[in-house]
Amino acid sequence: MAAFRWVAVLLLILSFTVVKVCCKFEFTNINCTSLDPEFMDVAECFLKSANRTYKYLTLKTRFYKLPINNIMIRVKVLKRLNGYKPFLYDFTLDGCKYLKGKQNQLIQFFYDMFAPYSNVNHTCPYNHDVYVEKLPISYLDHRVTVVLPVPEGYYCIHSTFSTEKRAVFDLKVYFQIS
Ligand SMILES: *[C@@H]1O[C@H](CO)[C@@H](O)[C@H](O)[C@H]1NC(C)=O
Ligand SMILES: *[C@@H]1O[C@H](CO)[C@@H](O)[C@H](O)[C@H]1NC(C)=O
Ligand SMILES: *[C@@H]1O[C@H](CO)[C@@H](O)[C@H](O)[C@H]1NC(C)=O
Repeated sequence: MAAFRWVAVLLLILSFTVVKVCCKFEFTNINCTSLDPEFMDVAECFLKSANRTYKYLTLKTRFYKLPINNIMIRVKVLKRLNGYKPFLYDFTLDGCKYLKGKQNQLIQFFYDMFAPYSNVNHTCPYNHDVYVEKLPISYLDHRVTVVLPVPEGYYCIHSTFSTEKRAVFDLKVYFQIS
């Protein structure tokens, strides 16, 4: 937990020292891959532009072995320089433990990025499919450029989900801040 606190402080410093507050968030790509087809499948995973101002992300899973009683998530933020390189965040969290207590501010920041558009909003066990539905760009734009200003560039949030000590799902969300 000391590491988390350290990152939280860094985050705070960063949010005050990034002089150029960036102005636009844009999804560039998404890659959802099941790493264990006997455990789960990806029912839907796409970015869509309804019109110029309304763009969103949808992701739906299909689980074959329920309930899910434990979930570990490795989250890495990458920034494109010469290829995607680690950027600031790389942590592993216990999903069920977090949902029970919600006491970590860093995880809370990532969780709040999609939670209002998802059914991932209760404690474990999970006995149903999980979705993030029509998560709008405008919502993320606000969180990434106003709540926590992030310097411009191309980024990827790479998450790997494991349960019962086996990796089952790989998610990469690519976006640009300009
Ligand atoms: C998506 O990610 C998977 C797992 O990392 C990888 O094997 C696959 O090549 C990627 N697909 C595309 C289109 O990049
Ligand atoms: C974009 O699409 C959304 C949802 O269909 C709609 O509510 C909104 O008015 C549209 N905006 C424009 C500028 O057409
Ligand atoms: C979780 O989200 C679903 C779908 O939006 C909603 O029906 C449900 O009431 C929410 N549950 C909690 C505990 O917030």
